[in-house]
Order: sequence, then C-alpha cells, then structure tokens
Amino acid sequence: MGENCLKGRVVVVTGASGLIGREIAFKLGSEGAKLVLHYNKSEKDIYELASRLRPRTYVDLIRCDFSKVDNVLDFIKYVKTRYESVDILINSVGVYDETSLHDVNPDLISRILNVNLISIMLISKELGTSMFYGSGGIIINLTCLTPLRGQKVYKCLKPSLPYVVSKAGLTQLTKYLASELAPKVRVVGIAPGWVGSRKLTPNLIKCVEDSVPVKRVAEAEEVADLVKYLICRGAYVDGTVIEFSGGL
Ligand SMILES: NC(=O)c1ccc[n+]([C@@H]2O[C@H](COP(=O)([O-])OP(=O)(O)OC[C@H]3O[C@@H](n4cnc5c(N)ncnc54)[C@H](OP(=O)(O)O)[C@@H]3O)[C@@H](O)[C@H]2O)c1
Repeated sequence: MGENCLKGRVVVVTGASGLIGREIAFKLGSEGAKLVLHYNKSEKDIYELASRLRPRTYVDLIRCDFSKVDNVLDFIKYVKTRYESVDILINSVGVYDETSLHDVNPDLISRILNVNLISIMLISKELGTSMFYGSGGIIINLTCLTPLRGQKVYKCLKPSLPYVVSKAGLTQLTKYLASELAPKVRVVGIAPGWVGSRKLTPNLIKCVEDSVPVKRVAEAEEVADLVKYLICRGAYVDGTVIEFSGGL
C-alpha cells in the first residue's frame, strides 16, 4: 500500500489519551485517517490532541471506563452504530501495576484484567469480526515484553501478577485472532521496552539507560512510526508480537 494508505480510513484508538496512544493518533490523523479516540480520565490531554488535529482531521472522542464490562459493551455499541465500518483498531489502553504478590486481591485482579485484557478481547472480537465480514483491516495491540521474556526483563520495575497475566493473555489474544481472522484481518502486537514519559523519575531513567543496550528510552513517536509501517507497508507481518525494546 502506498503513502496515501491512511486517507479516509476509520481508525479506533483505545487509550488514545495515553503517552503512546496520543502519538499514534496524531500520526495517523495527520496523514488523513478519520479518528475515533477513546479516553477515560485524561480529558485535558485528549482535548489538547483533538485541537492540534481539528479541523483538518475528523476526530470523535469517546470517554469510557474499561474497568467495567458493561461500559465496554456500551462503547462497542456506540462505535458499531455510528460507523458502518472500522478499518484499523489500535489498542493502546493499559494500566500498569506493581502491587506485591502478598497484596494482590480480587478487586485488583478484576480491574487490571478488565482494562488490559477483557475490554480489548471484547472490542477486538466485535470490530475484528465486522472487518472480517466487511472490507478487512488490521488490529494492533500494545502488549509488553513480560510474556515473551519473563517478569524480570524490566529489571528496574516489578510488575504485579495481574499485570503480567493480562499482558500474557493479550499476547495470546493477538495470535488467536490473527489465525481466526486471516487473511482479511491482520492482528499484530507491539511489546515496548521503555517508552519515555513524564512518569519516569530521574532514578528510573538512569536505571533504564544502564540496562537497555541502546542506552535510552524510546520516544512514543518511534512507536507511532512502527504502527504506520505495520498498517501501510507490513502486509506480511501477522500473528506476531514485535519486540520494541532497544535490545533489552
Ligand atoms: N510506556 C511504556 O514504556 C510501555 C512499556 C510496555 C508496555 N506498554 C503498554 O503500551 C500501552 C500504552 O502505554 P502508555 O505508556 O501510553 O500508557 P499511559 O500513558 O499510562 O496510557 C494508558 C491509557 O490507558 C487508559 N486507561 C487506563 N485505565 C483505564 C480505564 N480504567 N478505562 C479506560 N481507559 C483506561 C488511559 O486513559 P486515561 O489516561 O484517559 O484515564 C490512557 O489512555 C499500554 O498498554 C502499556 O501497558 C507501555
């Protein structure tokens, strides 16, 4: 597909108010995609993003708390009713957690799994099936290195059990859907190592720089570049999770 591959295509981005989601939305929107952007609490960030893109780019904003399954079902209903077809689904939604094993409890497990896995499973199943019976498309999931390399891979952080399990599920979801929905719908995962963020403290940045072979965190824009590549040029990339980790 050529450089105009995004023009007029309907893109749903979950977690579009987050660090990585914002950059992905900005890149795809700047290149002509019609954006349906999900957010939850970060209203200021998502409105700022929308104002950078409008009026040149179509932007629809949808607020939804994915920790509650009923809300996710309403979200899906809204998207399916309003848009005849969705061409691209990017799942960047995710909540990180470091609760120690001792303190993990049922509420935490259900919240993390709902946001990081169940919501994405429901949305991908619905929109992916519509793509399959319609004109095809691509789903890209932001997962994590832990299912591929174990929870100690990050060295500078200690991800919690529900977080690690949710991302393992997301990795399997990616492979399962790719196999079921091929060849019309490709499903690909991206497993970032460290992406720069205002949430990273100077100590953490130092720890990351010491542990990552390329000696720096990634820019969110670099993830957005990879997403664009996967959509526009990566027709042979399917059912896999790409490590984006600077050699970690
Ligand atoms: N950044 C990294 O270094 C890194 C590394 C490995 C994996 N990842 C994965 O990459 C993805 C994006 O990461 P990021 O750094 O952009 O994260 P982020 O800045 O924390 O953004 C997370 C997104 O998820 C949304 N979200 C969180 N809880 C939610 C809830 N209960 N209901 C609905 N939405 C909710 C947030 O919405 P609001 O802010 O509007 O509430 C936000 O849009 C995540 O899946 C993350 O696990 C990131």
